[in-house]
Amino acid sequence: MARNKITIVGAGNVGATTAHIAATRQLGDIVLLDIVEGLAQGKALDIAQAGPVQLYDAIITGTCDWEQTAESNLIIITSGLPRKPGMSRDDLLAKNVQIVKDVSEKIAEHSPDSIVIVVCNPLDAMVYAAAKVTGFDKNKVMGMAGELDSARFSHFIATELGASVKDIKCVLMGGHGDDMVPLPRFTSINGKPVIELIDKAKLDEMIDRTRKGGIEIVNLLGYSAYYAPAAGAVKMAESILTDRKAEISCCAYCGSEYNAGGYFVGIPVVLGKEGVEKIIELDLNDSERSQFEKSLAHVKQLADQVDKLL
Ligand code: LAC
Repeated sequence: MARNKITIVGAGNVGATTAHIAATRQLGDIVLLDIVEGLAQGKALDIAQAGPVQLYDAIITGTCDWEQTAESNLIIITSGLPRKPGMSRDDLLAKNVQIVKDVSEKIAEHSPDSIVIVVCNPLDAMVYAAAKVTGFDKNKVMGMAGELDSARFSHFIATELGASVKDIKCVLMGGHGDDMVPLPRFTSINGKPVIELIDKAKLDEMIDRTRKGGIEIVNLLGYSAYYAPAAGAVKMAESILTDRKAEISCCAYCGSEYNAGGYFVGIPVVLGKEGVEKIIELDLNDSERSQFEKSLAHVKQLADQVDKLL
């Protein structure tokens, strides 16, 4: 079987960290691409030189040349401006949509059979832009956010209970914004619902902190998070490339499910070699459904802005 070829677009914090984690997971050969001369080349060489220490054999190439990405099976788009303190993710839309447009055209030209994972913000709108510009089947284009947001919620739960993160199954839906919808009713620790283990006031505090998890880090660092976002992207890539069929929340095309009406939004899905292979339909109660509808309305507004710009 041919080795997987993974292209990571953008060699900034998220891109380079994604490349390193993907290498350690031995997912295949990696092409790291950036427009800044030397950046991707330097990071790729450094990551390759960690190989003898961490014992991975992948070929890791840094480049500015799209030709070198040809016939990748999977592309992860991390290029785009990150947030600075005081900015919302939506403030990035006009700039990042142009970057995602250029990148998507290149992907369609050089890797027409690839699966695309988008990681730049505003996430749901950028996934919509990538799907529109590539013209790829809708199950082949998706975005990483649910895994990151779920991981943040899981971290807070594990810390509160002194539990292992490995025992926590967390479910979250909606757009990657302050109106995302963590779902404590579907979140459990070794099968026990978290709502039976943590009181409501404390859980509400954790939900609020999860919703604001991105800006908490932006305010601490002056730029946005990258270890957990990169880990989330690699987890999705791994489930696709190994056909693991893991259940993961991500930004995926949602047609009649959840009455979404054909938008890309955060939902729990099964990821395998075809990309998004199945949407998991949870039996939401009224409150959960109305929170999801509010978040979806926001995602639709951003998609309308993308339409005006593309
Ligand atoms: C975050 C940014 C990357 O949530 O969206 O950290």
